[in-house]
Amino acid sequence: MEPCDFTLEAEEGSLVEPVAVVLPGGQRITFVVVPLTSVRRAWAAHPGGPISRVLTQAELAVSGMHAVVERRMAHLAGRIAAKFALIAHLGAQGHPLEARDLGLTQMMAGPEEGRPVAQLPAGVPACDVSITHSHALALAVVTSGGRVGVDLERVAPRAAAFQEEVFTPVERVWFEHQGRLQGRTPDEMWSLGWCLKEAWVKCTGQGLRAALQQVSFSGWTELGGRDVHLAPLTEGPDAFVRFIHLELSERRETGVTGLVALGQGYALAALHDAREPGAVST
Ligand SMILES: CC(C)(COP(=O)(O)OP(=O)(O)OC[C@H]1O[C@@H](n2cnc3c(N)ncnc32)[C@H](O)[C@@H]1OP(=O)(O)O)[C@@H](O)C(=O)NCCC(=O)NCCS
Repeated sequence: MEPCDFTLEAEEGSLVEPVAVVLPGGQRITFVVVPLTSVRRAWAAHPGGPISRVLTQAELAVSGMHAVVERRMAHLAGRIAAKFALIAHLGAQGHPLEARDLGLTQMMAGPEEGRPVAQLPAGVPACDVSITHSHALALAVVTSGGRVGVDLERVAPRAAAFQEEVFTPVERVWFEHQGRLQGRTPDEMWSLGWCLKEAWVKCTGQGLRAALQQVSFSGWTELGGRDVHLAPLTEGPDAFVRFIHLELSERRETGVTGLVALGQGYALAALHDAREPGAVST
């Protein structure tokens, strides 16, 4: 897939590279990662400059709800990532669009409040989008069939109390075993486990209104994906990337597919639910 003409990055000579993957279920999803440094620099230089070529005035205004500048930069970076993921995803389906042709809002009320919504021109297939930001990176995922949820976290020490609060006994045994099997640290595995749960509650739209102990799974089946490159996350020699089929307790009959990754001090999980027909877009 061609890199997007992301002016913020292009000025520094590195374009945002959308990454399209086909999940084992056959569903195509598109990722875009945006480093916060580029957004911070562009904002400091001229808030109305390059960023306003990507985001609409309404989107810039919404970002102003974040009083803390760093939180606002993360929000903007997530929206920019989502726009470029939408452009790349739809462009690959024969719908060439510019950033300003698309809108991004969120559910304003109800059980899925906060969930991002793509506003697309008439005649363009509906797309579902999910956004995450952590530390120095923002990341968005898009699909045009079913729903997606994504979560990125910095790998950090996780106390025993955290493990007990978030994970069921079955999950704790599973992650300890996987950590040994894959040669990954306990902190990496707990972080990845947290990402999986957050990705799922974003996919459903519940968010953290859901009790994470009730969002439970019995494990995953690996389905390849070692050759997926999601720069900068997978750039190091110790990167771990896999397609998975996640066996969710609430979805015993079908489960969901997705991608998990560890690298550069981050954990990432992206999940796709093919059973949900309605992409959240207008
Ligand atoms: C969705 C949620 C789990 C994300 O938490 P997080 O790890 O802090 O943040 P991430 O960077 O991974 O993701 C943030 C993005 O999730 C998305 N999001 C927010 N609510 C969402 C929902 N209900 N469903 C799906 N995605 C949602 C937004 O795009 C948000 O980015 P933005 O705030 O810049 O627009 C959390 O914000 C949440 O549960 N929100 C809804 C319920 C709520 O507000 N509870 C109060 C706090 S307990």
